[in-house]
Amino acid sequence: MAEQSAYRSMQDGLKRMNRIEDSLEKGVEPYDWPMSRSSPEEYAQTFYPIIGTSLQKHFAHRKSQGLNNVCLDLASDGWVFTGLRLPHDGALAVGISDPSTIGDNRIRYDMGDVSVVAGNLVKQTTWNEIDAWLAKRNVPSFDQVFFRPGGGIPLIGVQSDYPKSLHPIDSTTNEELMFGLLNRVLQRLSPNGEIFAELGYGTEFDAKAMESRLRAALNTATISATVRQNTLKLLVVHIHKIH
Ligand SMILES: C[S@@+](CC[C@H](N)C(=O)[O-])C[C@H]1O[C@@H](n2cnc3c(N)ncnc32)[C@H](O)[C@@H]1O
Repeated sequence: MAEQSAYRSMQDGLKRMNRIEDSLEKGVEPYDWPMSRSSPEEYAQTFYPIIGTSLQKHFAHRKSQGLNNVCLDLASDGWVFTGLRLPHDGALAVGISDPSTIGDNRIRYDMGDVSVVAGNLVKQTTWNEIDAWLAKRNVPSFDQVFFRPGGGIPLIGVQSDYPKSLHPIDSTTNEELMFGLLNRVLQRLSPNGEIFAELGYGTEFDAKAMESRLRAALNTATISATVRQNTLKLLVVHIHKIH
């Protein structure tokens, strides 16, 4: 009996994985995400322990220091940048699908100067498109990068360039993939650029351990990294590229 139910749950898991891989392949969202079209306030709430203020004030502060705000939002519909309330210098979102093409969204995304790349974050082809966007805008790198995948975390790693065994669908955060992603972002981050990323659930104790693993995995000669737990018990990291 137990064997039968283990077999059934394995079959269910495989079916689910195939369905998700199919979605990623076709650029169709596998779920109706409860967390979508998020506002700057919702982003600030997630990252409060490492940003300490509203997104508007943070962006304005950078501007007052003569810094640019070319933005990248990974695992996102990019909605956060469309409200014309953030002084950004261009924004690109990367998600499974491109909502900017649906209905009246085009106007909102155009007015907000927000582009979307539909692609799988762990595939090289998606990063080629990100690089093509930078080249088209004639900017060398991003100044601010956000990663707030919420329930999307287990999907990052499905159908990647990596061997499948590395990223079982039911895992929470696959650390190796996550550090790989952060390294890919760091290669495209401006001096004085910042990354704000959600890393999955964890305790304050986990935050300290994660911080030292992260420092070991990334080149700390050029960055500082701080991991904190937010009010939702999610670990959030702030990476600042010094030069
Ligand atoms: C819960 S939504 C969060 C959206 C947005 N960051 C927010 O805070 O409102 C999850 C997002 O992750 C994206 N996503 C999930 N897996 C992905 C993958 N492998 N590659 C790219 N985007 C992915 C989905 O397209 C979706 O936009």
